[in-house]
Amino acid sequence: MFSNYLARPCRYFPAQCTVVKFLHTSPVKCSSVELTQIRYSNLKRGNYTSLADKHVSFFESLLSKTRVLTDKSDVESYNVDWLKTMRGASKVVLKPKSTEEVSEILKYCNDNVLAVCPQGGNTGLVGGSVPVFDEIVISTVLMNEIISINKTSGVLVCQAGCVLENLEAEVTERGLVMPLDLGAKGSCHIGGNISTNAGGIRLLRYGSLHGSVLGVEAVKADGTVVDCLSTLKKDNTGYHLKHLFLGSEGTLGIVTKVAIQCPPKPQAVNVAFLALDSFEKVLATYRLARSCLGEVLSSFEFMDRDSLMVAVTGLKLKSPVPEDTPFSLLIETSGGNSDHDEAKLSLFLEQATNKGFINDGTLATEPSRIKMLWDLREGITQSLTMDGYVYKYDISLPMEHFYDIVSIMKERLKGTSFIRCCGYGHVGDGNLHLNVTAPSFDRDLLDLIEPFVYEWTAKHRGSVSAEHGIGFKKTSVVHFSKSAEALKLMAQIKAIMDPKGILNPYKVLPSDPH
Ligand code: FAD
Ligand code: MLT
Ligand code: ZN
Repeated sequence: MFSNYLARPCRYFPAQCTVVKFLHTSPVKCSSVELTQIRYSNLKRGNYTSLADKHVSFFESLLSKTRVLTDKSDVESYNVDWLKTMRGASKVVLKPKSTEEVSEILKYCNDNVLAVCPQGGNTGLVGGSVPVFDEIVISTVLMNEIISINKTSGVLVCQAGCVLENLEAEVTERGLVMPLDLGAKGSCHIGGNISTNAGGIRLLRYGSLHGSVLGVEAVKADGTVVDCLSTLKKDNTGYHLKHLFLGSEGTLGIVTKVAIQCPPKPQAVNVAFLALDSFEKVLATYRLARSCLGEVLSSFEFMDRDSLMVAVTGLKLKSPVPEDTPFSLLIETSGGNSDHDEAKLSLFLEQATNKGFINDGTLATEPSRIKMLWDLREGITQSLTMDGYVYKYDISLPMEHFYDIVSIMKERLKGTSFIRCCGYGHVGDGNLHLNVTAPSFDRDLLDLIEPFVYEWTAKHRGSVSAEHGIGFKKTSVVHFSKSAEALKLMAQIKAIMDPKGILNPYKVLPSDPH
């Protein structure tokens, strides 16, 4: 029965469909985003030096004029985050090309107490990548050199500003794959991925970056270059300092080079997009997938009806499952042998259907169809921005409570200005993305959502940030997921590595509520 299912042509995507491109951008203009210092007016600027002409002259002598942006229109997009929810007031963007230039810049900024904001692809979702006041933006956009790819060991060494998608293309040519993938791959930089310890859609298969990153080179606030750029799998020589830079969001140093272990490229990839009528069945399907698919299961992604439909509308695609389907799953297998993987998938689908877990679905084995199904899942984030303002929550939860908060929040927000309240995410990692949209920022709506959502998450022993980090937006709630002792140690480490606090101030470490 299921070999038929596998052979069945896709009902929703005509075979001639070409690869989807994200054509839509948020309707909000950068210049109309409220300044962060006004929106969060109780936050005070730190005692940093203000930028003066002599500082700009120094940077121009170091980098040349073309790599020092001061024109208001050139600087604007570096001040505004991807979600268009924060706007800094930086007057200068620096574009170093080498570790030595980053070192010179930081030494000068540290000596002159000039605050800086490191920026990669500026796709971060917690406001970490843009200045809050007038911090100098240090962009890694020109640090985009691949240094080496070793086909035998699978180790890639590159500069921090390489775009993830470009790295994927390069390693693919050598029979390898990047151990991480995410919807922002076309813009995000590997240095940004490391600095946020990004999760994404391959974490289920390849684990977190703490495992795949073999080495890091970073520059401390005073300009010291810390060379931990090991390419070895095993290296137990003292403290594992590289881990300090993973997920520290530019507050401990600027990552300049990375060494990453790339696994072999899977030979066979299949994607099933399935319709389910309850969240209990999502969990039952997950248990079944783990036992039937075992080592070939590479992603187990979930989206509720509102999430799928916002992507269907935003991308102008047809839904691969009936439009009233309450829950959908995108399940990917990747392995070395297509016959073996298809046999496993077939058995899994047969059992899931016989047990009544899944109602409908489609299966893709061709790369273009697979891409379209992934575009629907990955297109949710961008499509949500079309509503106006997005209140975005990225939480880890025990499986049994995974979806409860979406229903609770919908009920709580009844009668307010919200447009959509939806949930999607990486079920396999216990990571839910709860999103609420509204036409524009509304403080009353925010106060209804927060701190409630974080208190609820903490009560259910979850984490207030599963993969996006703390950035600017979550500094006042980090205590829900970190003990007082751990927070104190974080502050001590920050004081050792950046005593003047010039690196990405107002981010990550707890501050006054804002
Ligand atoms: P930026 O946004 O520029 O910066 C992020 C943080 O890192 C900032 O605090 C910045 O100061 C710091 N930083 C950047 N570069 C450096 C450096 N070289 N040295 C020191 N600090 C630095 N995240 C996930 O975890 N999983 C997902 O599935 C995922 N999907 C996404 C999908 C979309 C459509 C979008 C827009 C975002 C998504 N994200 C996801 C969030 C974001 O893409 C990731 O956090 C990404 O890793 C950020 O990389 P970036 O280069 O854009 O960094
Ligand atoms: C995702 O999984 O799609 C990303 O983390 C982005 C988001 O949360 O919207
Ligand atoms: Zn995610």
